[in-house]
Amino acid sequence: MSVISYEFSRLGLCDLDDLVALEKICFPHAWTEQQFWLCLKQKAYYIFGLKKGGELTAYMSFYHMADEMEVLKLAVHPAHRRKGLGKHLLGLVLQNCIKMGIEQAYLEVRRSNTAAYALYTGFGFIQTGVRKEYYPDNKEDALILFLNLNGIRDRQIVESLSG
Ligand SMILES: CC(C)(COP(=O)(O)OP(=O)(O)OC[C@H]1O[C@@H](n2cnc3c(N)ncnc32)[C@H](O)[C@@H]1OP(=O)(O)O)[C@@H](O)C(=O)NCCC(=O)NCCS
Repeated sequence: MSVISYEFSRLGLCDLDDLVALEKICFPHAWTEQQFWLCLKQKAYYIFGLKKGGELTAYMSFYHMADEMEVLKLAVHPAHRRKGLGKHLLGLVLQNCIKMGIEQAYLEVRRSNTAAYALYTGFGFIQTGVRKEYYPDNKEDALILFLNLNGIRDRQIVESLSG
């Protein structure tokens, strides 16, 4: 099934229950309903999603400040992985960020998360640092990744990769 058939939209408070449910499926240390609620209420936080027949299958959240954004979460329902949805959603969100005037994108990813690392570096994110033993649950390192959205080259990458 083509990724284009999924509906892309900014999520709001009406999506809170679906977000919490999908988050629980995707992350062992899931954000709470309260955390999502606060995120959805504040202007600087954005959550975009992909839906099929009204069902939320993927979402991506980020924090926007000045000309920077920090990716908070990107998740695809396990039953829908490896079909290009993560790539599609990330590309669409980065296109939106460029339209919003955002020039720099940052994120942290667990060293063991090879799937997410491959997805991000496939878009041109480069590793700029390491936060040693950053995650309290298992003292795993966080890799800091950065993408410059300000160049034409990066815009072309985003447009070509998002399908
Ligand atoms: C990371 C995640 C969002 C990827 O979503 P996805 O829809 O399966 O990814 P896609 O099908 O779009 O794959 C895009 C690229 O990511 C990489 N990738 C995705 N899954 C991978 C895996 N299991 N192993 C290695 N690389 C993988 C590949 O480079 C892939 O490109 P390719 O298909 O050309 O090889 C998904 O695995 C997920 O939700 N994981 C749990 C939540 C999480 O860890 N989020 C990231 C931190 S917030």
